[in-house]
Amino acid sequence: MFEDEFENERLVMSTKGEYDAEENVLRPKTMADYVGQSKVKENLGVYISSAKLRKEPLDHVLLYGPPGLGKTTLAHIIANELGVQIKLTSGPAIERSGDLAAILTNLNDGDVLFIDEIHRLNHSVEEILYSAMEDYALDIIVGKGPAARNIRFTLKRFTLVGATTRAGMLASPLRDRFGVMCRLEMYTPAELAQIVTRSARVLGIEIDPRAAEEISRRSRGTPRIANRLLKRVRDFAAVKGNSSVTYEDARYALKRMDIDELGLDETDRGLLRALIEKFGGGPAGLETLAATINEDANTIEDVYEPYLMQLGFIARTPRGRVCLKGGYEHMGVKMSEKQRMQTSMFDDE
Ligand SMILES: Nc1ncnc2c1ncn2[C@@H]1O[C@H](COP(=O)(O)OP(=O)(O)OP(=O)(O)O)[C@@H](O)[C@H]1O
Ligand SMILES: [Mg+2]
Repeated sequence: MFEDEFENERLVMSTKGEYDAEENVLRPKTMADYVGQSKVKENLGVYISSAKLRKEPLDHVLLYGPPGLGKTTLAHIIANELGVQIKLTSGPAIERSGDLAAILTNLNDGDVLFIDEIHRLNHSVEEILYSAMEDYALDIIVGKGPAARNIRFTLKRFTLVGATTRAGMLASPLRDRFGVMCRLEMYTPAELAQIVTRSARVLGIEIDPRAAEEISRRSRGTPRIANRLLKRVRDFAAVKGNSSVTYEDARYALKRMDIDELGLDETDRGLLRALIEKFGGGPAGLETLAATINEDANTIEDVYEPYLMQLGFIARTPRGRVCLKGGYEHMGVKMSEKQRMQTSMFDDE
């Protein structure tokens, strides 16, 4: 029965979707409850306090980093700590510049406007944002041809919080208008264990600390994955008739889900295997690799590669992706001398 239930679910997939409602329950509401990211938290804490002291809006903030690391959560916390309202939207949701104009004119003084996936704003919409961010003004062109006039509306002084998994895809005029840039880092297993323990408490799941630790070690540095694995481990334990999650339950469930000791799933291993077996360790272009393992190139780039690179298993080179020594070792394949020479410059060791 488990096969049917879990087969199609990509457990280590760190994208959003159907989980959003549950995700909100698990979101910490204050800086104090937000685990890890100490540098980002400290700096933001200073900017927020200063803005409040000066009775000025907080400067625009760009949050960037791989999916599931806590960008949306942090945006809510920023608004919460400032004591202002937050309005939520996303790049692809704003189709026309009029849509954005409507959103902007409805903001109150000091409000936070959160734009998720800000790298996906279309160009005409993005241009409206330039003057809005810089001068709190909305420039609208009325009429056509020689009779066209520019009308400027004044906006309330708001704070834009943008989130993106791809800071590199932002046009520089947009990027330059953010006074604060925060790059979120992957979490350590200890931090993830803290998150898992907290989530278990919120969800009313009793869990052995060793089980929490096991889940954390295999969550690819990502809170969203840690929370998701916690829930699935809970399911396996419950079906076995256990009221609390033991260490054995966790190990058994993770094994059933094909998540290995490092948190890699079939897709990760498929990617490494393809690189090693089909491309002799690489370099292989992203698109070629994507086609070979039948996965979307953007997904590989956003979801799979960051952790594999963090582990030092693969590297992005100008000529394509290469598998490094650690990747070979993890897959139990011996690296050829030639391959070792070719990739040693990308290896940290
Ligand atoms: N620092 C943290 N402490 C505790 N829980 C966290 C933290 N960061 C994230 N989480 C948990 O992880 C989940 C995912 O976080 P969030 O939705 O903020 O990620 P995101 O960076 O916005 O992802 P995406 O790029 O996919 O939008 C949240 O439900 C939250 O419970
Ligand atoms: Mg988000």
